[in-house]
Amino acid sequence: MSNQTQKESISAGLWTVPEKAHPGVILAIETSCDETAVGLMRGRELLASEVASQIDLHAVYGGVVPEVASRNHLRVLKPVLERALDQANLRIRDVDAFAATQGPGLATSLMIGCCLAKGLAIAAGRPFIAVNHIEGHLLSPFFGQEIRPAIGLVVSGGHTVLVDIHTEGLYRILGSTVDDAAGEAFDKVGKLLGLPFLGGPNVNRLALKGDRKRYDFPRSMMNSGDYSFSFSGLKTSVRYLLPKLGEYLVEDLCASFQEAIIDVLVSKTLSAADEMKRNTVAISGGVSCNSRLRERFELECQDRGLELLLAPPKFCTDNAGMIAFVAALKHARGEYSTLASDIDPNLKLLGLTA
Ligand code: KG4
Ligand code: ZN
Repeated sequence: MSNQTQKESISAGLWTVPEKAHPGVILAIETSCDETAVGLMRGRELLASEVASQIDLHAVYGGVVPEVASRNHLRVLKPVLERALDQANLRIRDVDAFAATQGPGLATSLMIGCCLAKGLAIAAGRPFIAVNHIEGHLLSPFFGQEIRPAIGLVVSGGHTVLVDIHTEGLYRILGSTVDDAAGEAFDKVGKLLGLPFLGGPNVNRLALKGDRKRYDFPRSMMNSGDYSFSFSGLKTSVRYLLPKLGEYLVEDLCASFQEAIIDVLVSKTLSAADEMKRNTVAISGGVSCNSRLRERFELECQDRGLELLLAPPKFCTDNAGMIAFVAALKHARGEYSTLASDIDPNLKLLGLTA
């Protein structure tokens, strides 16, 4: 399905889920890091996706402080939940299953969302569904569509993982980062350049006016023949270059650094599509908001006749719509979690082995 068709299936700025999903109402909570989010979905339609960002609270520290994050989740979760219910014109008693992000993420943040979802499930006598945050990102470009075979790239602040998607719930992990995630590299380089928190969007903004060829940064592991990524060397090369430069245009540094990351992401994703013989590429996670990354994937996929799926930017960064979508698919399969299921800060995306 083309991006145009994908856009047409977004109702009132929100997504719809495939026809075959069970028409129950799902309420999903996402509190894995510093966004407090609640999503509501009825059958094939996402009715609400409310997100309260804590970015200003953490900006003063230059990074996310776990205790600040969890205390703020506690403070804002109830109003965010009420806003989502109002937007969807629903009440708690209308909900058929309650979902929450189980991991990966910050333990004390995950606990807040999971405890609330479980508490609501107990009070309402409805099932609880634990959702993997990475699976939420991975499937977000498919919103409104059937999940079908594709190469999925999740690029966020905490994860860079390339996945061969067979169908919903059936994945082969092709590779992931051996050190920094792509978003982490953006944020660290933003900090080195003295840009405001959060680095990624600010590097993207400045790069728009910069020369992408001004500095030749390393494309680590680009031709390594496997699907692992490494971005910490790239960040270090920016650090070493800065003191050697007298005057420089920060726009050129941002554009050159960003292009190095994107070259690696595009090259590995397209190699995987080629090797696995997949005609669809699905890019997700906060870094997939990046305008140059979207443009490069659009150009390269068009050249190769590959179908490109990209979520709308507000569904690339953390949100509960993507958690509700995975929960709706699980609900349709009758896959529920026990109330004893624990949060897992290091939860992995389970994949097939060779
Ligand atoms: O998916 P996300 O909201 O949270 C995690 O699961 O980590 O991703 C956040 C990451 C941050 O590192 C942020 O800097 C990055 O996504 N990001 C961007 C852009 N917008 C967000 N990176 C590059 N360009 C952007 N426009
Ligand atoms: Zn995320």
